Amino acid sequence: MDNTAADAATLARVIEARRTIHDFTADVPPRELVLAALDHARWVPNHHRTEPWRFYLLGATAVARIVELNTELVRAKSGDAAAANKRQRWLAMPGWLVVTCRRSENPDTEREDYAACSCAVHNFSLCLWASGLGTKWSTGKVTRDPRFFAAIGADVEREFTVGLIWFGYPQAVPSQTRRPLADVLHDVG
Ligand SMILES: Cc1cc2nc3c(=O)[nH]c(=O)nc-3n(C[C@H](O)[C@H](O)[C@H](O)COP(=O)(O)O)c2cc1C
Repeated sequence: MDNTAADAATLARVIEARRTIHDFTADVPPRELVLAALDHARWVPNHHRTEPWRFYLLGATAVARIVELNTELVRAKSGDAAAANKRQRWLAMPGWLVVTCRRSENPDTEREDYAACSCAVHNFSLCLWASGLGTKWSTGKVTRDPRFFAAIGADVEREFTVGLIWFGYPQAVPSQTRRPLADVLHDVG
């Protein structure tokens, strides 16, 4: 291993500066950056190397189906105005990725696979962030609807959704805080 202090500083900066982005510009994220980030996303710890993730990069047809499905769900729960608002917001999302995890008969394996998939999502986000692109991880009700799986060509019997990840160039970067490390750190002698 020949990592330098500069590598460590860069990594720490990218990790701490990354924020969930709620508003993106209309610019289309370059596909090669997205594919490179997905390639790097897979280099996460993964017990038994099950490689449980599946990546669905959505095009216009799948996006339109999901937006309409979500609009329908929001309308049923919160009414027309909320549905129209959500529809407009979702249509403005420039990049759409769905990450699923394979199901397993063994709950321990499924839990470990889900952990690995979560790491993969974060690797994806960090790689994009290092290139100036932001992400938003969402797990709304629509992502568990069987029609969602049909819209992206996934098999609801064999996989479950880890996240719907929007990506693109940030319009604004929110600030965030974390509790002091001492609040959660237990030095155990
Ligand atoms: C599993 C998961 C689901 C999330 N779902 C949502 C969501 O539905 N809506 C949302 O605004 N943020 C969602 N987030 C993002 C969190 O709100 C965000 O990570 C948190 O506010 C901390 O902000 P940061 O990512 O900028 O550090 C989700 C994050 C994770 C890990």
